[in-house]
Amino acid sequence: MAKLPPYEELLSEILITEEQLKKRIPELGAEISRDYVDDDLLLICILRGGVMFLTDLMRTITIPHAVDFMAVSSYGAGARETSGQVRITLDLTMNIRGRNVLLVEDIVDSGNTIASVLSLLDSRQPRSLRVCSLLDKAEARQSVVPIHYVGFEIPNKFVFGYGLDLDEYYRNLPFIGVVDLKKYTPPA
Ligand code: IMP
Ligand code: MG
Repeated sequence: MAKLPPYEELLSEILITEEQLKKRIPELGAEISRDYVDDDLLLICILRGGVMFLTDLMRTITIPHAVDFMAVSSYGAGARETSGQVRITLDLTMNIRGRNVLLVEDIVDSGNTIASVLSLLDSRQPRSLRVCSLLDKAEARQSVVPIHYVGFEIPNKFVFGYGLDLDEYYRNLPFIGVVDLKKYTPPA
């Protein structure tokens, strides 16, 4: 596989700095801690993009809570778009029936992925089901999805870093940057 260039060669601008992330995420954690105080809480992270956000967010949640993971892949999607349907490639280990579930996501773009995951989880009869997404690309929405907790609303541009990938790379960047797709050649 061809080596990908240093991120600087693909970055057109830093959209959300490390400092902005460090300020906003504890605000979300505090809000979640208030909303679920004295209640059960199960965070579900969809692999892989949401992992960095999950681990930072959960450190700021002050009430006892559990975490579980799932992975999905979408059917028949183009390179940087998702279709309406998702398939579970890694299922939860926990039973969510009767539990307060909070889905932790990196980004809601078309909303197709989260809409499909929500209907799937809803069929397992959780007590409550909400979404916390770090980023909301509202302009790109195709499926109507309720997002209860949003970190940042962003424009309809392709971003990378802080868990979000460009063809599986650059998830490690500590900020969220806009990719200059004109400068990017996908690896062969
Ligand atoms: P949706 O189904 O269109 O809402 O997109 C869901 C998934 O697409 C997200 O969980 C991300 O993995 C990916 N995605 C959407 N927009 C971006 C982006 O700007 N950068 C990186 N990944 C993205
Ligand atoms: Mg992705």
